[in-house]
Amino acid sequence: MKEKPTRREKLTQIPPDIAAVNDYEKLAKHFISHPHFEYIAGGSANEITLKNNQKAFDDIGLYNRVLQDVSQGSTELTLFGEQYRHPIFLAPVAHQQLAHPDGELASAAAAEAMEAGFIASTLSSTTLEQIANTTRYRKWFQLYFQDTKAFTLSLIKRAEKAGYSALVVTLDVPINGLRNRAQRANFTLPQEVREANLEGKPSPTQRQLNRTQSIIFQGIMKDAPTWQDLEWLQQQTNLPIIIKGILHPADAARVKEMGFAGLVVSNHGGRALDGVPASITALPFIRHRVGAEFPILLDSGVRRGADIFKAIAYGANAVLIGRPQMYALAVAGALGVAHMLRLLREELEVTMALTGCSTLQEINTECTFTQPQ
Ligand code: FNR
Ligand code: LAC
Repeated sequence: MKEKPTRREKLTQIPPDIAAVNDYEKLAKHFISHPHFEYIAGGSANEITLKNNQKAFDDIGLYNRVLQDVSQGSTELTLFGEQYRHPIFLAPVAHQQLAHPDGELASAAAAEAMEAGFIASTLSSTTLEQIANTTRYRKWFQLYFQDTKAFTLSLIKRAEKAGYSALVVTLDVPINGLRNRAQRANFTLPQEVREANLEGKPSPTQRQLNRTQSIIFQGIMKDAPTWQDLEWLQQQTNLPIIIKGILHPADAARVKEMGFAGLVVSNHGGRALDGVPASITALPFIRHRVGAEFPILLDSGVRRGADIFKAIAYGANAVLIGRPQMYALAVAGALGVAHMLRLLREELEVTMALTGCSTLQEINTECTFTQPQ
């Protein structure tokens, strides 16, 4: 099959036919090469979780309410002691120069313009310092544990120095999910897209495995972080630490007991273990287990303001947006990402207006119903 050429020039205006976030995905195909698109869009294995992430949102219905006065309405919230205008954050997404030459610098600028929190990935294609220099708005650093504690610690210290105000520690991919779609498309990271924060990182220790040992268990997973490493991490920084990639209520309870600041209910956008529940399905059980006050963010499958509303109804304080950042970046750079965020925010406000909710606190499960299957 002959591949269609991709458009290198990004748009400087938003095309009028982009009316919703998913329209960016359709258009992005023409701006990103096929292997890159497949890496971004794909989930793991049979993509059961990837599909369920959106289906589970669609299966939740909403009730409209009439004649409610929402003229004082607002989407404001307080999270970790800070005021936010709305509950929408950009999720940590690696390798953003796959989508646009300005990569994370463009999405961080868009986040600032839209007053959305930005979460810089350990695997960003520009350094965490460069990202910090482009934005004065709230930014958090997403940490992947590294092969050595010394290198992990150096990333934390760099993030502190650069002004990041929280750490998001991602735990659900100590080993990548089975990224079959990316493999079939022969995806590899091009040389010009660097893992900019990891330059100078010590090369991993090569382990000699004998014939009875497994590359997975005794090889890769030997270095995977454990609960003890999380305890170690708590001793290294005063920044609030938010744990990302929690789906099981027992793990959520442990995170809370250990004194972490909050958690992100996430299945990594269906890119980690295939078959796990959609985040929105797991959320109410986790909220029930950790109680009303513990901060919970949610990601995976949020594509509509109504999805944000449903996440809040089921117990989330705020949501993170993953792939749409990359699609909007690919189409129109910072302008695209800002527009994508604006669409979501306006949709959330429309949903609140039609359900008669003036504030996020008024959103609860009484606004929703479960569709008959
Ligand atoms: C991710 N995600 C991710 N998460 C993380 O903690 N660190 C990372 O570096 C990355 N990198 C990354 C790259 C790409 C291309 C994707 C699509 C995702 C996961 C991300 O933060 C988030 O959990 C999901 O993307 C949320 O699902 P949606 O919004 O993409 O459905
Ligand atoms: C991913 C890794 C980078 O989801 O978290 O591709």
